[in-house]
Amino acid sequence: MARGRGSTATRGAMVAAAFAVACYCLGLAGVASAATYYVGDSSGWSLSSGSWPHGKQFHAGDTLVFRYMPWLHNVVAVDEEGYNGCSTPPGARTYQSGNDSVRLARGNNHFICTHLGHCSLGMKMVVNAA
Ligand SMILES: *[C@@H]1O[C@H](CO)[C@@H](O)[C@H](O)[C@H]1NC(C)=O
Repeated sequence: MARGRGSTATRGAMVAAAFAVACYCLGLAGVASAATYYVGDSSGWSLSSGSWPHGKQFHAGDTLVFRYMPWLHNVVAVDEEGYNGCSTPPGARTYQSGNDSVRLARGNNHFICTHLGHCSLGMKMVVNAA
């Protein structure tokens, strides 16, 4: 009897320990995968930001920070069509603080600047998040 209670308690402790390890690993994975990137690095979000993502590895949940002079630029999160045609789809989210944090979704994330034809001048960017 005593032995049976003991093994039940031991099993319970092992399950609890396994849960603790699983939660710990999930926590680490979450921290490890959530990176913050400054678009354009020290140049910020600019007419030449289109090539900035090249060669970088982004993941869903990473944060992009767009920094720019808010009277010069904005950031509009668009779809592929909006990106290709420099158009803003209905419901597209517009950021205009000059210090905007955007969480990446899995797949392609498209951003354009709609100020004064800047998108047509090449101020657009696709970021692919794994
Ligand atoms: C930009 O925004 C972040 C929060 O999203 C804030 O912590 C930071 O101080 C801001 N930086 C500037 C220069 O406003």
